[in-house]
Amino acid sequence: MTELAGKTIVLGVCGGIAAYKAAELTRLFVKAGATVHVVMTQNGARFVTPTTFQALSGHPVWVDAWDDRRANSMSHIDLTRSADALLIAPATANTLAKLAQGLADDLLSTLALARDCPLLVAPAMNRQMWSNAATQRNVAQLRADGVEIIGPDAGEQACGEVGDGRMSEPAAIFEALAAFLQPKPLAGRRVLMTAGPTYEPLDPVRGITNTSSGKMGYALARALARAGAEVALVSGPVALATPLGVARIDVQTAAQMHQAVMQRVGRVDIFIGVAAVADYRPLEVSADKIKKSGEAPVIRLERNPDILADVASLPAAPFCVGFAAESRDLEHYARGKLESKRLGLVVGNLVQDGMGGDTNQVVLFDAAGAHPLPRADKHAVAAGIVTHLVALLAAR
Ligand code: C5P
Repeated sequence: MTELAGKTIVLGVCGGIAAYKAAELTRLFVKAGATVHVVMTQNGARFVTPTTFQALSGHPVWVDAWDDRRANSMSHIDLTRSADALLIAPATANTLAKLAQGLADDLLSTLALARDCPLLVAPAMNRQMWSNAATQRNVAQLRADGVEIIGPDAGEQACGEVGDGRMSEPAAIFEALAAFLQPKPLAGRRVLMTAGPTYEPLDPVRGITNTSSGKMGYALARALARAGAEVALVSGPVALATPLGVARIDVQTAAQMHQAVMQRVGRVDIFIGVAAVADYRPLEVSADKIKKSGEAPVIRLERNPDILADVASLPAAPFCVGFAAESRDLEHYARGKLESKRLGLVVGNLVQDGMGGDTNQVVLFDAAGAHPLPRADKHAVAAGIVTHLVALLAAR
């Protein structure tokens, strides 16, 4: 993965037990192609030694404001001059207080004050220190100053207590920073999406569903949020984590999905139907578990609403994107959908190429023609769809 290739990150490490997680974070950044310069507070260097970070980052580690390894003795300015971001993880209550006040009494706080790059902080502290009015005041001030606050999480703490204040996990901090550094061509755009399968009950324990994993829809929701869009995701039952910055509405049936979409669609610029919506549902749903009997039961079905077609035919319809998962004649069916449902874009794939797996091969169909994307993992495919969508919206 070279998601952060060409990016330079200054990672500030303060004195908290979560400093050990900053070692893993450094590794994730380096693995993603970033150049990482680590700056530690004196207390941070008591929890994990600079040698660890030097070995992981491959660069000298900075602790002392009077360090004269830089020829001009300007390490307090130089280090962030070419940086894309200054990230402080863990950020202690003390450092947050200093940042909120503009104090500069060590190398890290001086760098933060002298920086001309964005500042992100991942707080880590005991739950009472976090909920203390002074800390909350400082965090509110930092937010107002444009500082990005990542976390903290709730859970078990090193002191044995349970509550808010635990530093977010390295993977979550990585995701937040990588998302922050993405270009934002969809800033100000509101997107409503559906994803996953639907589940149509027959009785309290049985129902009709399909093999959609939701992975493509969730990857697309993530890519849209990273591109700056405000994303609401109406999701059928899936075993996936909600992407950062995405508002998720859980539903089970097509009727519930239809209702959740119709309630919100008036407020959006773009609607994307990725869900594998059941076309039919059982006509009767038994309140009790259906028992075995002599004769095999017959399940009678009725049509579900077509959510995408209903949205696309609204008088003030948003820009509509549909998915076409077909087992053959992809172009024929995808083009048919583009025209019959009056969509701006159809993402087509052969089910044998994508459903359930981590990679997908899709062809984008729009008024201008067919645009095949290379086979790639679903996140790369999602990024390709977003790039195409941005171009289509710009051309409108
Ligand atoms: O007509 P077909 O089901 O093949 O179209 C697939 C597209 O329509 C997908 O984008 C899917 O999310 C959407 N759809 C829907 N409601 C349905 C059936 C399909 O929104 N009941």
